Amino acid sequence: MKILSVETSCDETSAAVVEKNDGKSVRVLSNVTATSLAIHAATGGIIPENAAREQVKYIIPVIVEALLKSENVKPGSNSENFIRAKQILNEETDALAVTYGPGLIGSLLVGVETAKTLSLVFDKPIIPVNHLLAHLFANFIQTSNIYDPRSEIKYPFIGLIVSGGHTDLLLFKSLTDYEWLGGTRDDAAGEALDKIGRLLNLPYPAGPEIERRSALAKDSDKIKFKSPLMETEDFDFSFSGLKAEVSRFVKNEKLTNRLTNQVSRAVQTAIFDVLIKKTIRAAKVYGCSNIVLGGGVASNKTLLRGIELGIRNNELGIKVFAPEKVYATDNAAMIGSYALLNYKPVDWHKVAANPDLYFV
Ligand code: KG4
Ligand code: ZN
Repeated sequence: MKILSVETSCDETSAAVVEKNDGKSVRVLSNVTATSLAIHAATGGIIPENAAREQVKYIIPVIVEALLKSENVKPGSNSENFIRAKQILNEETDALAVTYGPGLIGSLLVGVETAKTLSLVFDKPIIPVNHLLAHLFANFIQTSNIYDPRSEIKYPFIGLIVSGGHTDLLLFKSLTDYEWLGGTRDDAAGEALDKIGRLLNLPYPAGPEIERRSALAKDSDKIKFKSPLMETEDFDFSFSGLKAEVSRFVKNEKLTNRLTNQVSRAVQTAIFDVLIKKTIRAAKVYGCSNIVLGGGVASNKTLLRGIELGIRNNELGIKVFAPEKVYATDNAAMIGSYALLNYKPVDWHKVAANPDLYFV
């Protein structure tokens, strides 16, 4: 089974062709992403209208490129490309999948309406996909031809979604039976990193830059910020107070390169300490031997190593999975992955963008 999947929930425009192997892991035949990041870097954050305008321009070229790449077709003239892409969609592809929420309404509409049109015209089933769940199921994408540890992911597992818009802890008893345990009460982890990055004059999005600077920090214990909700018994998070704390701190300081590195490290530690502690506690409380991470922040190696270290220190024998970077940040392959594993087509005219979609 092959699926053409589309993702446009935020600023990325992404299309992928994915295929299911005999086992439970998913093979990516192509994954093409266009981003309007340069425009948002200039404004220090995403302006929804600008994102959607760019996506309208990118969506067809990205889909065409994904289809051609999936069959290793060398691009030719525009009209040749369109003819080949239509042929591949018609003859080689079994279904479509598209992110229907959550996300920015204008952005979601671009992907949803395009996918619905293709579903109607090419008479292919369409599967609407929850972007947040797809972030976790990016872990089922096969990343090695020889041995794939991801095929070992076992239920029940704890899922931690850490992205620019969300921070949620979930208990997955099976593919379809899951329970929300807790999440952020205000800013998401990635959002906090990006907002604090602005205070530190770092480029947008700041997460990767904060990771890079944290590794360079000297005398890193000199600065410490409070890790919010560290001691509470729930599985909630809160990161907006941290931003206020950092804002107060930097107001009276000259932000040298050295200090920026130190503050970056202290911020990363404050955010990750509580994520690590509550994720491991959730796995312990619910008897899970696997933890699965998803979302842009899950591409941070310090977070992954921190969870692994916490598990080792407590001799828990829990395995942690995180997607490769390209499948951790927003991408269409993860949408296809979820649709292949949870194949539930609906009539194309019943698919609707839902910006406020949560866990249903
Ligand atoms: O999942 P994603 O691509 O988009 C959303 O669905 O929100 O996540 C984007 C977020 C941004 O906040 C970005 O700063 C953060 O992921 N991010 C990182 C890293 N790479 C991306 N945060 C920390 N460390 C990273 N290496
Ligand atoms: Zn995302």
